[in-house]
Amino acid sequence: MKKILVLGACGQIGTELVLTLRQLKGEESVIAADLKNECPEIINNGPYIQLDALDKQSIRTYIIDNNIKEVYLLAALLSATAEKNPEFAWKLNMEGLFIILDLAKEKHIDKIFWPSSIAVFGPTTPMDQTPQHTIMEPTTVYGISKQAGERWCEYYNLKFGVDVRSIRYPGLISYKSLPGGGTTDYAVDIFYKAKENKKFNCFLKEDTALPMMFMDDAIRATIELMDAPIENVKIKSSYNLAGISFTPAVLAKAIQKVIPDFEIEYHPDFRQAIADSWPNSIDDSMSKKHWGWEPKFDLDGMVHVMLENL
Ligand code: NAD
Ligand code: SER
Repeated sequence: MKKILVLGACGQIGTELVLTLRQLKGEESVIAADLKNECPEIINNGPYIQLDALDKQSIRTYIIDNNIKEVYLLAALLSATAEKNPEFAWKLNMEGLFIILDLAKEKHIDKIFWPSSIAVFGPTTPMDQTPQHTIMEPTTVYGISKQAGERWCEYYNLKFGVDVRSIRYPGLISYKSLPGGGTTDYAVDIFYKAKENKKFNCFLKEDTALPMMFMDDAIRATIELMDAPIENVKIKSSYNLAGISFTPAVLAKAIQKVIPDFEIEYHPDFRQAIADSWPNSIDDSMSKKHWGWEPKFDLDGMVHVMLENL
């Protein structure tokens, strides 16, 4: 039986991706793997293996011995954490990718999903409705690693026929798992604080618009892209994807519709500079045209589901 490996499965995206993939493909077909020695309880319903994305030999042996044919490579350092340890961020984000790309080049893996990010864009990029093809001069180590990763994915496709598919995720908002050290994390934390003590200190300025998306939409997009016929996947670097764009002030207002006495204060820190270098909103018309992408969640819908489920 062909198997799927989700590497970096214990994080914000991995836990929800594993849950959905297991519902669709069968519990035993989807192996969750992570550096952690135990997986979160929520994905205890299927196989779990402790694996280091940088341990080339163990990854290679596991993938070949277990007939893994699809890999979702999620292990990475995110933007804020990466700025604190740039050297290691570069190592993890790049070497981890090469290990998987090379296994696909040698035909051990049929298909790879590797996520990119809105962080590939930089201060010289057009900020509103950022096009698929545009100026990309990222100023964070995370963004540089994602942009280099995109180039290598396309290269492995063009030179070696590797089927690697990718999305430039916006900031993701979820209630089943916590975010892992990004600049968009405020948009998850705000819901916890709104419910706990009705007060939130935001590390970004009130008017900082960023592209965001509810996790259900992101997981659906990922699986739709992976299931799309190969001839529809025309972009081999990474696809722009858009959901909702908002500022902290706009999000706070939407929360106040449900919790009227919720208060927010703004105390920008080092993450403000990262956010300032990223787009306000994204043009994802190519994803729509090529593989039929359509988001479902708007701001109020997302706020409602978050506050209901936390
Ligand atoms: P996360 O930090 O929540 O999860 C990453 C997981 O990888 C963690 O469980 C961690 O333990 C694991 N990991 C770290 N080093 C590892 C190693 N050496 N070997 C195995 N596992 C290791 O991150 P996430 O938010 O789930 O993001 C997953 C991917 O999606 C990353 O590539 C990230 O850049 C990308 N992405 C995320 C967002 C977002 O908003 N969450 C947006 C854009 C792109
Ligand atoms: N949500 C991610 C971050 O803030 C974007 O890639 O790092």
